[in-house]
Amino acid sequence: MSPAEEIKTKLDIVEVLREYIQVKAVGANFQALCPFHREKSPSFVISPDKQIWHCFGCGKGGDVLSFVQEMEGLSFPDTLRLLAPKAGVILKYESKQEYSKRGRILDCLQVAAKQGQYWLENDDTGKKMKTYLLKRGLSEETLKEWQVGYNPDAWTAMLEYLRSQKFKDEEIFAAGLAGRSDRGSAYDRFRDRITFPIKDVSGNVIAFTARINPEKEKTIPGGKYINSPQTEVYDKSRVLFALDKAKKAIKERGFAIVVEGQMDAIACHQHGFSNTVASSGTALTAEQLLLLKRFTNNLALSFDMDNAGQLAADRGIREAMAQDINLKVILLSKEYKDPDQCLQSNPDDFKQAVINSRPVMEYYFDKIIAGKDLTKLADKKEVVKLMLTMIMKLANKIDQEFWFKRLAESTGVSEQILRESVVVSKPTSRQVAQKAEIKPPTAAETTINRDERLSDILLAILLKAPDYIPYAASHLEPRDLLLENLSQFYKNLIIYYNKFAVLDYDAFRLYLQEQDDKSINIIDRLALLAERDYYDYDDNGLKSELSKVLLELKKFSLKRQIKTLQNQIGAAEAGSDKTDLNNLMTDIKNLTEQLNSLRSL
Ligand code: CTP
Ligand code: MN
Repeated sequence: MSPAEEIKTKLDIVEVLREYIQVKAVGANFQALCPFHREKSPSFVISPDKQIWHCFGCGKGGDVLSFVQEMEGLSFPDTLRLLAPKAGVILKYESKQEYSKRGRILDCLQVAAKQGQYWLENDDTGKKMKTYLLKRGLSEETLKEWQVGYNPDAWTAMLEYLRSQKFKDEEIFAAGLAGRSDRGSAYDRFRDRITFPIKDVSGNVIAFTARINPEKEKTIPGGKYINSPQTEVYDKSRVLFALDKAKKAIKERGFAIVVEGQMDAIACHQHGFSNTVASSGTALTAEQLLLLKRFTNNLALSFDMDNAGQLAADRGIREAMAQDINLKVILLSKEYKDPDQCLQSNPDDFKQAVINSRPVMEYYFDKIIAGKDLTKLADKKEVVKLMLTMIMKLANKIDQEFWFKRLAESTGVSEQILRESVVVSKPTSRQVAQKAEIKPPTAAETTINRDERLSDILLAILLKAPDYIPYAASHLEPRDLLLENLSQFYKNLIIYYNKFAVLDYDAFRLYLQEQDDKSINIIDRLALLAERDYYDYDDNGLKSELSKVLLELKKFSLKRQIKTLQNQIGAAEAGSDKTDLNNLMTDIKNLTEQLNSLRSL
């Protein structure tokens, strides 16, 4: 057994996927909102029996390995490395290639994090930094847990240490730990800074963010924080600080707290708000939101957003609204600069603020009408204009409806007028996307799509109820199916059933594999289609569904054949061969009769 197979047999797909998405039992299977595309109703199906998954929305599918690979954005070997410990499998060999460059970079970063911790304890300035952090309210335990460290005030301390640990310079650069001066000499990137490891969702150190020595904060120019550059293992738009530690609590509590700074996130965790992540001072990106969506659809933001304009302009908030995420705003009283300060002075205030967090639209609305006099026309128009731009960003029609009403009530402008005034405004990106999805297919596409859909249903039903294969075969031949791979699949299904008189799913799968049949890649999709759409059908229900589909497909096939013959007749008429023409006429007549006699099966 290959390591991949061994890992697959030892892991349960549902349990593994549960760590990433919320799954719901439906019949013998599980459903979820697909994490790979935006959707509101679940089209993502997991079969525990078959240990496979498929999304009927975006068409992706596969096994537990492909899911984790896609989700984590890993290479296949890295996926095995990630899952092997979970499955209790020891990867016996790791070829040079498998023990990839990526692995070396991750090791290098982990070693650097450990060394930073050492310097925080043992370097003279490091010790001062530790005192500073403790004074800021972080506990010894917290510092350890977050691997908070310090890099000495020297040009090459980290470089030399890493070299002594047998890391090559190219690896240290690839890890983003060193920079190069204009004259070409290498230097430590985080000199004389407090370092915080940034970890991916599985807890690997992938980068650092580093705070300036507070003693020099006033005197040294440049940023208070500097971060690792983009590297092979670090893409800052796809990472959320603290998500590795917060993901479990986010699921349990049903929402995530999003703060700006990593000091805020760490303080939140220490005070029991362990469902907190940090955006690291920038607007949330679409990728970060998708990442969070694996765990929850409810976010409470503790951002510094004093005025409504700031809020409306925030890219992250707009994106979250477009993704139909429930957004709340945590309001801290003015005396606190950020959550960290609030927690240091009065943790209860923060707790109350979280409890009292308000839906972003309500907050926004209040901000906009504050200080406005709605009896004045100019104010009224201003409020309507600002609110409408925000309402149109809502992805959900029900939310929009609610806010149209609310706005109408507050301003006295009728709902109809409000709705009419947005017609001219630009559609949101999501609306554009939706439009694009439903663009009408061309004539050719329509027939192919319909034929494909019906063929899918036929084969799905037959996989679920193989006893009906002979019945289907007697009414519809493989060549009646338009699409080559589905036709081929149908043919194999019939051959296999004729040979063995039963259809064992796994055995059939193997059979297809041995045939080197290209239709192998559709079997899982078809099997899950049946589980999703027909799991609660009894035998009679399936049979009647099957008859309908067979009838439709047969009609399609006959019509296609007639059309082809008509084209041939056109060609034959131009020529001289009369017998040929006669034969064609007879064929058409037969087919047409068949078609007309097809009322039901
Ligand atoms: N930030 C950054 N670069 C800067 C300043 C800030 O990347 N020059 C990011 C950091 O992720 C920081 C966040 O923005 O955590 C919030 O910035 P700020 O509020 O200034 O810092 P604090 O987190 O409050 O840090 P401290 O409390 O230590 O001053
Ligand atoms: Mn702060």
